[in-house]
Amino acid sequence: MTTVETPWLRTAHGANLIGPDGELGRTIFEEITGLAIEHEAINLGQGFPDTEGPEHIRDLAIQAIASGDNQYAPGGGIPALRQAISTHQSLFYGLQVDPDTQTVVTTGATEAIAAAVLAFANSGDEVVTFEPYYDSYGAMISLANAVHRVVPLNAPEFQPDLDQLSSVVNDNTKLIILNNPHNPTGAVFGVDVLQRIIELAHRHDCLIISDEVYEHLTFGVSHIPIAQLPGGYERTITISSAGKSFSFTGWKVGWATGPEELITAVRTVKQFLSYSSGPAFQKAVAQALALPDEFYTGFAADLGRRGGLLADGLEQAGMDVMRPAGTYFLIADVAPLGFTDAVQVARMLPASAGVAAIPLSVFCHEEGQARTASLLRFAFCKKPEVLGQAIERLHGLSGKLV
Ligand SMILES: Cc1ncc(COP(=O)(O)O)c(C=O)c1O
Repeated sequence: MTTVETPWLRTAHGANLIGPDGELGRTIFEEITGLAIEHEAINLGQGFPDTEGPEHIRDLAIQAIASGDNQYAPGGGIPALRQAISTHQSLFYGLQVDPDTQTVVTTGATEAIAAAVLAFANSGDEVVTFEPYYDSYGAMISLANAVHRVVPLNAPEFQPDLDQLSSVVNDNTKLIILNNPHNPTGAVFGVDVLQRIIELAHRHDCLIISDEVYEHLTFGVSHIPIAQLPGGYERTITISSAGKSFSFTGWKVGWATGPEELITAVRTVKQFLSYSSGPAFQKAVAQALALPDEFYTGFAADLGRRGGLLADGLEQAGMDVMRPAGTYFLIADVAPLGFTDAVQVARMLPASAGVAAIPLSVFCHEEGQARTASLLRFAFCKKPEVLGQAIERLHGLSGKLV
C-alpha cells in the first residue's frame, strides 16, 4: 500500500491518524467502545443521549421529507432556520444578529469549527485552546498546519490561571478557541475568564471562536455567551448546534453567528466542505429553537439530576468526583482507589465492572497527560435506570479492579 505522508494530521495525544502503511489509526475512543461492546458494558464513554428529542419536532422532520424537502438547502441554511437562530440569540441573550448576513447553518457544530479554523488560521499561526480540549480542535488546527498552544485547566475547578492565559496568547496568536460550557471537564468559565479572553483578543489582534454547544445544559449557573460582554461580539464567531440542546446529535444541524465579515469567511469555507445539508432537519430545528423556556429549563434540571445520581454512585464506588456546572460530562479521580493511571482503569472497567469511561488524558498533549493521569470522563446523558444499573455494577469497585 502507498504510504500517505500526513505528518500534520495528529490526534490530541500525538498519534498519527494515518499509520506508516496508510492504515487509519485506532483512537482510545474506538478501543474503549470496542471493549464496551465485547463485554456488554454500559458505555458512559461516549456522549450521546439514549433518549430521543421531542416527538413533535421529529414529526416535523418526517413531514418535511414526505412533502419534498429533499434537495440541496441554500448554502447558508434555510431562511426559517436562520431567522430562528437570530430570534433565539435575541430572546436568550439580547444579541441582535441579522439572519441573512450574520448567521450561517452548518453540518453540526463540527463543520462550523472546521470552517472557522480553516478560514482564519494559516500555516504557522498560533491557535490557543484550554487543555483538556475537545478533540476536533486539535485535528482542525493540525489540518490548518497551525501551531496549537494550550492553557491548562486543573482539577478540581478546571478554571484557567489568568496570568498563564495571558502569557500564552501573543502577537502570533490568530485564534483563541473557547468552549463554554466545557467538554470534557464540565466547567463553566467565570466572567473574569471571558473578560480576559476579550482583552487579550483586542491586545493581540486575534479572533475568538466560542463553541457553545452546551449553552442550555448548565446546572444552577447561567450561560453567558462571550459575545454578550463588552468588546466580545466584534471579534467572536459563536457556534452552537441542535445536537445537545434537543438531543438530536445525529441530525448534525449546527450554526455560527457573528459579525458579517467573519460569518462570510466561515460560509465561504463551508461551501467547499459540505456546501449544505439536511433541509428537512433544518426545518424541524427552526421549530425546536422556538420551544418555550420551560423546555430548556426542564431539560437542564433533569440532566442535572442525572449528573447528581452518577456523581453519588461514583463517590460510593470510591472515586473523587468533580461535579460539573454544565455539559453532560463529569470527571472522576481514580487515585482514591489506589490507581495512578486512568488509561489502565478505563481498559479494565468494561470487563471488571461492565461500565466504560474515557481517560481524560486523551484530550491532552503530552504534558497535560501527566496532569490528568488519574482522571476519567463519564457521560451522564443516559436514562436514570441505565445510570442506576451502572452504579450497581460499580458497587465494590476496588475489589473488582484486579
Ligand atoms: C464541545 C463540542 N463541540 C462540538 C461538538 C460537535 O457538535 P456537532 O455534533 O453538532 O457537530 C461536540 C460534540 O460532542 C462537543 O462536545
